[in-house]
Amino acid sequence: MSHIEIRDMEISFPTPKGRYIAVKDINLSIEKGEIISIIGHSGCGKSTIMNAIGGMLNPTQGTVTVNGKKVNGPGPDRGIVFQNYSLLPWMSVYENIFQAVDAVMTCSKTEKREIVENNLKMVNLYEHRNKLPGQLSGGMKQRVAIARAFAINPSVLLLDEPFGALDALTKGTMHLELLKLWNLDNREKTIIMVTHDIEEAIFLSDRIVVMNDGPASTIREIENVHIPRPRNKLDIVNSLEYKSIRDRLLHLLTNKFSVEDMGIDYKK
Ligand SMILES: Nc1ncnc2c1ncn2[C@@H]1O[C@H](COP(=O)(O)OP(=O)(O)OP(=O)(O)O)[C@@H](O)[C@H]1O
Ligand SMILES: [Mg+2]
Repeated sequence: MSHIEIRDMEISFPTPKGRYIAVKDINLSIEKGEIISIIGHSGCGKSTIMNAIGGMLNPTQGTVTVNGKKVNGPGPDRGIVFQNYSLLPWMSVYENIFQAVDAVMTCSKTEKREIVENNLKMVNLYEHRNKLPGQLSGGMKQRVAIARAFAINPSVLLLDEPFGALDALTKGTMHLELLKLWNLDNREKTIIMVTHDIEEAIFLSDRIVVMNDGPASTIREIENVHIPRPRNKLDIVNSLEYKSIRDRLLHLLTNKFSVEDMGIDYKK
Protein backbone atom coordinates (compact mmCIF):
# COMPACT_ATOMS: atom_id res chain seq x y z
CA MET A 1 0.00 0.00 0.00
CA SER A 2 1.18 3.51 -0.78
CA HIS A 3 2.06 6.02 1.92
CA ILE A 4 -1.10 8.00 1.21
CA GLU A 5 -4.17 6.50 -0.47
CA ILE A 6 -7.21 8.53 -1.41
CA ARG A 7 -10.03 6.26 -2.52
CA ASP A 8 -13.30 7.32 -4.23
CA MET A 9 -13.36 10.49 -2.18
CA GLU A 10 -16.23 12.94 -2.38
CA ILE A 11 -16.53 16.00 -0.16
CA SER A 12 -19.67 18.09 0.00
CA PHE A 13 -20.77 20.96 2.24
CA PRO A 14 -24.23 21.90 3.45
CA THR A 15 -25.27 25.32 2.12
CA PRO A 16 -28.59 27.24 2.31
CA LYS A 17 -29.28 26.09 -1.28
CA GLY A 18 -28.59 22.41 -0.51
CA ARG A 19 -25.40 20.38 -0.56
CA TYR A 20 -22.51 21.73 -2.53
CA ILE A 21 -20.25 19.02 -3.91
CA ALA A 22 -16.73 20.45 -3.85
CA VAL A 23 -14.77 17.42 -5.11
CA LYS A 24 -15.75 13.92 -6.21
CA ASP A 25 -14.24 10.70 -7.57
CA ILE A 26 -10.82 11.57 -6.20
CA ASN A 27 -8.44 8.62 -6.42
CA LEU A 28 -4.77 9.17 -5.74
CA SER A 29 -1.95 6.96 -4.45
CA ILE A 30 1.15 8.74 -3.23
CA GLU A 31 4.38 6.87 -2.51
CA LYS A 32 6.62 7.57 0.47
CA GLY A 33 9.05 10.34 -0.43
CA GLU A 34 7.11 11.69 -3.37
CA ILE A 35 6.70 15.42 -3.90
CA ILE A 36 3.28 16.13 -5.37
CA SER A 37 1.81 19.46 -6.46
CA ILE A 38 -1.88 20.15 -6.81
CA ILE A 39 -2.73 22.89 -9.26
CA GLY A 40 -6.07 24.27 -10.44
CA HIS A 41 -8.26 27.34 -10.53
CA SER A 42 -9.51 29.07 -7.38
CA GLY A 43 -12.39 27.19 -5.79
CA CYS A 44 -11.66 23.82 -7.44
CA GLY A 45 -11.18 22.11 -4.07
CA LYS A 46 -7.42 22.06 -3.49
CA SER A 47 -7.63 23.17 0.16
CA THR A 48 -10.55 20.80 0.66
CA ILE A 49 -8.39 17.84 -0.42
CA MET A 50 -5.49 19.03 1.77
CA ASN A 51 -7.80 19.37 4.78
CA ALA A 52 -9.07 15.83 4.24
CA ILE A 53 -5.50 14.45 4.23
CA GLY A 54 -4.67 16.58 7.28
CA GLY A 55 -7.72 15.21 9.09
CA MET A 56 -9.44 18.57 9.56
CA LEU A 57 -12.29 17.49 7.33
CA ASN A 58 -13.97 14.12 6.91
CA PRO A 59 -14.74 12.94 3.38
CA THR A 60 -18.47 12.67 2.72
CA GLN A 61 -17.71 9.48 0.80
CA GLY A 62 -14.58 7.39 0.37
CA THR A 63 -11.45 7.27 2.50
CA VAL A 64 -8.03 8.75 3.07
CA THR A 65 -5.36 6.41 4.43
CA VAL A 66 -1.94 7.50 5.68
CA ASN A 67 0.63 4.81 6.54
CA GLY A 68 -2.08 2.17 6.26
CA LYS A 69 -4.32 3.88 8.83
CA LYS A 70 -7.61 5.56 7.98
CA VAL A 71 -7.41 9.29 8.71
CA ASN A 72 -10.00 10.44 11.23
CA GLY A 73 -8.34 13.51 12.68
CA PRO A 74 -5.11 15.52 12.70
CA GLY A 75 -1.89 13.85 13.92
CA PRO A 76 1.80 14.64 14.49
CA ASP A 77 2.72 12.54 11.44
CA ARG A 78 1.25 15.30 9.25
CA GLY A 79 2.55 18.88 9.40
CA ILE A 80 0.43 21.51 7.75
CA VAL A 81 1.05 24.98 6.42
CA PHE A 82 -2.46 26.39 6.02
CA GLN A 83 -3.35 28.87 3.32
CA ASN A 84 -4.27 31.43 6.04
CA TYR A 85 -1.18 30.63 8.20
CA SER A 86 -3.26 29.81 11.35
CA LEU A 87 -0.90 31.33 13.90
CA LEU A 88 -2.05 31.82 17.49
CA PRO A 89 -2.43 35.62 17.72
CA TRP A 90 -1.66 35.88 21.44
CA MET A 91 1.65 34.02 21.15
CA SER A 92 4.94 35.42 19.86
CA VAL A 93 6.62 34.08 16.74
CA TYR A 94 8.93 32.01 18.95
CA GLU A 95 6.10 30.62 21.10
CA ASN A 96 3.99 29.74 18.07
CA ILE A 97 6.75 27.41 16.88
CA PHE A 98 7.79 26.24 20.33
CA GLN A 99 4.30 25.10 21.36
CA ALA A 100 4.05 22.96 18.21
CA VAL A 101 7.48 21.40 18.80
CA ASP A 102 6.71 20.91 22.51
CA ALA A 103 3.43 19.16 21.73
CA VAL A 104 4.95 16.68 19.27
CA MET A 105 8.60 16.06 20.18
CA THR A 106 9.94 14.07 23.08
CA CYS A 107 13.47 15.54 23.28
CA SER A 108 14.81 17.82 26.04
CA LYS A 109 13.77 21.47 26.46
CA THR A 110 17.25 22.58 25.34
CA GLU A 111 16.99 20.54 22.15
CA LYS A 112 13.50 21.86 21.52
CA ARG A 113 14.76 25.44 21.88
CA GLU A 114 17.57 24.65 19.46
CA ILE A 115 15.10 23.27 16.89
CA VAL A 116 12.94 26.40 17.18
CA GLU A 117 15.94 28.71 16.85
CA ASN A 118 17.36 26.86 13.85
CA ASN A 119 14.05 26.99 12.04
CA LEU A 120 13.58 30.68 12.86
CA LYS A 121 17.01 31.34 11.37
CA MET A 122 16.16 29.23 8.33
CA VAL A 123 13.22 31.51 7.47
CA ASN A 124 15.18 34.64 8.48
CA LEU A 125 12.92 35.57 11.37
CA TYR A 126 15.21 35.11 14.34
CA GLU A 127 15.41 38.88 14.87
CA HIS A 128 11.61 39.04 14.93
CA ARG A 129 11.07 36.13 17.32
CA ASN A 130 9.40 38.18 20.05
CA LYS A 131 6.80 39.83 17.82
CA LEU A 132 3.15 38.83 17.80
CA PRO A 133 1.55 37.64 14.52
CA GLY A 134 -0.41 40.91 14.32
CA GLN A 135 2.89 42.79 14.08
CA LEU A 136 4.10 40.81 11.04
CA SER A 137 3.68 41.24 7.28
CA GLY A 138 1.86 38.55 5.27
CA GLY A 139 5.12 37.08 4.00
CA MET A 140 6.56 36.98 7.52
CA LYS A 141 3.49 35.17 8.88
CA GLN A 142 3.80 32.68 6.06
CA ARG A 143 7.42 32.05 6.98
CA VAL A 144 6.50 31.45 10.63
CA ALA A 145 3.96 28.86 9.45
CA ILE A 146 6.62 27.20 7.27
CA ALA A 147 9.16 27.16 10.14
CA ARG A 148 6.53 25.61 12.43
CA ALA A 149 5.70 22.83 9.97
CA PHE A 150 9.40 22.11 9.24
CA ALA A 151 10.29 22.17 12.96
CA ILE A 152 8.05 19.26 13.90
CA ASN A 153 9.67 17.23 11.12
CA PRO A 154 6.56 15.20 10.18
CA SER A 155 6.66 12.29 7.74
CA VAL A 156 4.01 14.04 5.63
CA LEU A 157 4.22 17.75 4.88
CA LEU A 158 1.03 19.37 3.60
CA LEU A 159 1.67 22.81 2.17
CA ASP A 160 -1.29 24.88 1.00
CA GLU A 161 0.12 27.67 -1.18
CA PRO A 162 3.07 27.92 1.22
CA PHE A 163 5.08 30.42 -0.79
CA GLY A 164 2.28 32.47 -2.34
CA ALA A 165 2.85 35.58 -0.22
CA LEU A 166 6.64 35.63 -0.62
CA ASP A 167 8.78 37.79 -2.89
CA ALA A 168 10.62 35.95 -5.68
CA LEU A 169 13.98 35.88 -3.88
CA THR A 170 12.60 34.54 -0.60
CA LYS A 171 10.50 32.05 -2.52
CA GLY A 172 13.61 30.74 -4.28
CA THR A 173 15.39 30.33 -0.93
CA MET A 174 12.39 28.50 0.53
CA HIS A 175 12.35 26.06 -2.43
CA LEU A 176 15.94 25.13 -1.63
CA GLU A 177 15.21 24.85 2.11
CA LEU A 178 12.30 22.55 1.36
CA LEU A 179 14.49 20.30 -0.79
CA LYS A 180 17.23 20.41 1.84
CA LEU A 181 14.78 19.21 4.50
CA TRP A 182 13.64 16.45 2.16
CA ASN A 183 17.24 15.41 1.38
CA LEU A 184 18.20 15.43 5.09
CA ASP A 185 15.43 12.94 5.67
CA ASN A 186 16.82 10.65 2.92
CA ARG A 187 14.00 11.81 0.67
CA GLU A 188 11.53 9.80 2.73
CA LYS A 189 9.29 12.70 3.61
CA THR A 190 6.14 12.84 1.50
CA ILE A 191 5.30 16.38 0.46
CA ILE A 192 2.00 17.57 -0.99
CA MET A 193 1.86 21.17 -2.04
CA VAL A 194 -0.87 23.36 -3.49
CA THR A 195 0.43 26.04 -5.81
CA HIS A 196 -0.67 28.40 -8.57
CA ASP A 197 2.89 28.69 -9.80
CA ILE A 198 3.62 26.37 -12.73
CA GLU A 199 7.40 26.86 -12.61
CA GLU A 200 7.49 26.13 -8.88
CA ALA A 201 5.42 22.99 -9.43
CA ILE A 202 7.76 21.67 -12.13
CA PHE A 203 10.94 22.54 -10.22
CA LEU A 204 9.85 20.77 -7.03
CA SER A 205 7.52 17.94 -8.00
CA ASP A 206 7.63 14.33 -9.07
CA ARG A 207 4.01 14.56 -10.19
CA ILE A 208 1.60 17.43 -10.74
CA VAL A 209 -2.11 16.85 -10.17
CA VAL A 210 -4.23 19.15 -12.33
CA MET A 211 -7.81 19.68 -11.13
CA ASN A 212 -10.93 20.44 -13.16
CA ASP A 213 -13.01 23.45 -12.19
CA GLY A 214 -15.84 23.03 -9.67
CA PRO A 215 -18.48 22.27 -8.68
CA ALA A 216 -17.85 18.58 -8.23
CA SER A 217 -14.23 18.91 -9.36
CA THR A 218 -12.34 15.81 -10.33
CA ILE A 219 -8.70 15.19 -11.14
CA ARG A 220 -8.23 16.25 -14.74
CA GLU A 221 -4.78 14.89 -15.38
CA ILE A 222 -1.58 13.91 -13.61
CA GLU A 223 1.67 15.08 -15.18
CA ASN A 224 4.87 13.16 -14.43
CA VAL A 225 8.00 15.26 -14.10
CA HIS A 226 10.90 13.11 -15.24
CA ILE A 227 13.58 15.76 -14.74
CA PRO A 228 16.47 14.17 -12.80
CA ARG A 229 17.43 15.54 -9.35
CA PRO A 230 19.21 17.54 -8.18
CA ARG A 231 17.54 20.09 -10.42
CA ASN A 232 19.10 23.41 -11.22
CA LYS A 233 16.55 26.12 -11.96
CA LEU A 234 18.71 27.84 -14.53
CA ASP A 235 19.45 24.61 -16.41
CA ILE A 236 16.08 22.90 -16.38
CA VAL A 237 14.18 25.80 -17.97
CA ASN A 238 16.04 25.07 -21.19
CA SER A 239 15.28 21.35 -21.22
CA LEU A 240 12.72 19.95 -23.63
CA GLU A 241 11.03 18.04 -20.82
CA TYR A 242 10.53 21.26 -18.85
CA LYS A 243 9.13 23.13 -21.85
CA SER A 244 6.73 20.38 -22.79
CA ILE A 245 5.36 20.07 -19.23
CA ARG A 246 5.03 23.84 -18.92
CA ASP A 247 3.15 24.08 -22.24
CA ARG A 248 0.91 21.19 -21.27
CA LEU A 249 0.05 22.81 -17.91
CA LEU A 250 -0.55 26.19 -19.53
CA HIS A 251 -2.85 24.53 -22.02
CA LEU A 252 -4.77 22.72 -19.27
CA LEU A 253 -5.08 25.78 -17.04
CA THR A 254 -5.66 28.49 -19.61
CA ASN A 255 -8.74 28.12 -21.71
CA LYS A 256 -8.86 31.76 -22.65
CA PHE A 257 -5.91 33.09 -24.58
CA SER A 258 -6.84 36.63 -25.61
CA VAL A 259 -9.22 39.40 -24.64
CA GLU A 260 -11.41 38.62 -27.68
CA ASP A 261 -11.86 35.08 -26.29
CA MET A 262 -13.27 36.66 -23.15
CA GLY A 263 -16.07 38.32 -25.10
CA ILE A 264 -14.67 41.83 -24.71
CA ASP A 265 -14.72 43.83 -27.91
CA TYR A 266 -12.27 46.70 -27.47
CA LYS A 267 -12.97 48.03 -30.97
CA LYS A 268 -16.38 49.36 -29.90
N1 LIG B 1 -17.07 24.93 4.79
C1 LIG B 1 -17.55 25.11 3.57
N2 LIG B 1 -18.89 25.29 3.36
C2 LIG B 1 -19.37 25.47 2.11
N3 LIG B 1 -18.62 25.47 1.01
C3 LIG B 1 -17.30 25.30 1.14
C4 LIG B 1 -16.69 25.12 2.44
N4 LIG B 1 -15.36 24.99 2.26
C5 LIG B 1 -15.15 25.08 0.94
N5 LIG B 1 -16.31 25.27 0.26
C6 LIG B 1 -16.47 25.39 -1.19
O1 LIG B 1 -15.79 24.31 -1.81
C7 LIG B 1 -15.12 24.76 -2.99
C8 LIG B 1 -13.66 24.43 -2.90
O2 LIG B 1 -13.03 25.25 -1.90
P1 LIG B 1 -11.47 25.20 -1.62
O3 LIG B 1 -11.20 26.13 -0.51
O4 LIG B 1 -11.07 23.79 -1.47
O5 LIG B 1 -10.88 25.77 -3.00
P2 LIG B 1 -9.36 26.00 -3.46
O6 LIG B 1 -9.14 25.19 -4.69
O7 LIG B 1 -8.47 25.79 -2.31
O8 LIG B 1 -9.37 27.55 -3.89
P3 LIG B 1 -8.23 28.69 -3.72
O9 LIG B 1 -7.25 28.48 -4.86
O10 LIG B 1 -8.98 29.97 -3.90
O11 LIG B 1 -7.63 28.55 -2.37
C9 LIG B 1 -15.43 26.26 -3.11
O12 LIG B 1 -16.51 26.44 -4.01
C10 LIG B 1 -15.83 26.67 -1.72
O13 LIG B 1 -16.77 27.72 -1.74
MG1 LIG C 1 -7.24 26.98 -1.21
